[in-house]
Amino acid sequence: MPKVKVLPHQALCPAGAEFDVDEGRLLIEALLANGIAIEHACEGCGACSTCHTIIREGFDSLSDMEDREADMLDRAWGLEPESRLSCQARIGAEDIVVEIPRYTRNLVSERG
Ligand code: FES
Repeated sequence: MPKVKVLPHQALCPAGAEFDVDEGRLLIEALLANGIAIEHACEGCGACSTCHTIIREGFDSLSDMEDREADMLDRAWGLEPESRLSCQARIGAEDIVVEIPRYTRNLVSERG
């Protein structure tokens, strides 16, 4: 069973977190189920970028990225080559290390 390690994030998990998840599960589901309240303004439709994560280890083990995800990621704050939308990335067989960026760009929020 792959392990997900989440690096410390000031607001969401100051001490970091580590947990096992079933292979094939969406990363955002695993985060939310383990008490990490990552933003998900479009409820996982792949239509915002608030669930942006950076995969520090195990990036290649995740499910492939569709064009729609790549397009949406272009709008994410702090985009890196190992960025993924956690609502679109399914966990593979390997352990991963996840960083949640400090900021999001919430295009859905009325505050902008
Ligand atoms: Fe909107 Fe993932 S929750 S793209």
